[in-house]
Amino acid sequence: MLTAGSHVISISDFSRADLIAVLDRAAAMERNPGRPLDGRLMATLFFEPSTRTRLSFEAAMLKLGGRVIGFSDAASSSAKKGESLSDTIRMVERYADVIVMRHPRDGAARLAAQVSRVPVINGGDGANQHPTQTFLDLYTIAQEFPELRSGDRELVVAFAGDLRYGRTVHSLLHALCHFRVRVLLVAPRGLEMPADHLDHARAAGLQVEVLPDLQTAAERADVLYMTRLQEERFPDPLEFDHIKATYRISAATLAKAQPRLRILHPLPRVHEIATDVDATVHASYFTQAANGIPVRQAVLATVLGA
Ligand code: CP
Repeated sequence: MLTAGSHVISISDFSRADLIAVLDRAAAMERNPGRPLDGRLMATLFFEPSTRTRLSFEAAMLKLGGRVIGFSDAASSSAKKGESLSDTIRMVERYADVIVMRHPRDGAARLAAQVSRVPVINGGDGANQHPTQTFLDLYTIAQEFPELRSGDRELVVAFAGDLRYGRTVHSLLHALCHFRVRVLLVAPRGLEMPADHLDHARAAGLQVEVLPDLQTAAERADVLYMTRLQEERFPDPLEFDHIKATYRISAATLAKAQPRLRILHPLPRVHEIATDVDATVHASYFTQAANGIPVRQAVLATVLGA
């Protein structure tokens, strides 16, 4: 449940009602945010690089009247000297009212929450979870497709790219289990969706299909959720070059897509979306990134009891 004092660690901790409440509160923030967090302090502990998550959290807090402390590089923190994550959290909880953390280790956010007396918000832990990204992904999908919430029509959501290590697709797959959605999966060999996430989705009643190519997914989907291929995941550079060329959409390859197709991407993009897609009606990824502000305002205001 998402309420005053809650930690935000995994999307699996939240019900459909919680998700809808975040979407409603984010819409209210867009209309009239006010300054409900006047005098409150947020700490951003980013042990891994980030542009959108850190800056949109900071912008969200500042726009609501709050203030921000933190670091964006673990090398500039005492983690570099060997301080444990638990000790870091035990200090920061005495300085700030809420902690937003990104960490390279799966489970680091859960560990931080176990020792913190102030809310911990997971800004991404390893290949595990990125729950506030999922909130803003759902917010963007619901803006484009009201049937996500109404359930009037089965929505088709395709995930493409690195489905093994991409934490955003793991979180979003779990969240979609609460809605009337068919999921299409397209991934290079070795980067398929892990079996535990697939089993969870199918057990929850989600219809899931594995497709052989991106083109078919783009032609069938309402939402195409692209992810970045990480070169370091490929042992063979030649294989990466081949896959890179296959997992790429451009304005030309979208010629047969349905007009209503919307393309999302958590960003940053590298090779997988040609820049000529940006000017098409399908491109929703910059709107999606902008939605990080009202959605994170909603999360901050809720956990801080404002
Ligand atoms: N979507 C996302 O998490 O982006 P950053 O890595 O830039 O925060």
